[in-house]
Amino acid sequence: MSLEPDDALPIGEVVRRTGVAASALHYYEQMGLIAAHRTSGNQRRYARHMLRRISLILVAKRLGIGLGDVRDVFTTLPMETVPTIRDWQRVSQRWRTQLEERKREIEQLERELTGCIGCGCLSMSACQLLNPGDELAEQGPGPRRLVPSAQSRPRPRRELDVIQ
Ligand code: FES
Repeated sequence: MSLEPDDALPIGEVVRRTGVAASALHYYEQMGLIAAHRTSGNQRRYARHMLRRISLILVAKRLGIGLGDVRDVFTTLPMETVPTIRDWQRVSQRWRTQLEERKREIEQLERELTGCIGCGCLSMSACQLLNPGDELAEQGPGPRRLVPSAQSRPRPRRELDVIQ
């Protein structure tokens, strides 16, 4: 089938051009990341600018940005038209901020891990990797989140208890 430049693309063509599996495209569609319209024969057709959205999903995946975050950002982009350069700048700036946050978290973990190398104490009071933040330490030593378990509550008497 030959396609005119303005023709909407059948799913096979989108798969061929993006390398994304048809099942993943269906999933993206369910999530509202991309959209397709249906032909009279109930076949999906994708507007060409969906290729850009899919490319951006692939970039996000490479950056470790979750599909939930992609969806958040995509809700600010027009679905029916090609996003503008400004739209893309906004998206990339937001993801850059997320990457910088993650980088700071990784650097913090790296510092904590450095303190643990060769230690091995895995102490709840000293090891920041094992017990980050230690919010419950302010309440004093010992277990803080224990609730009466089924074993510690009085057990109802059964007939066998009476016989023995
Ligand atoms: S293992 Fe000792 S401080 Fe983390």
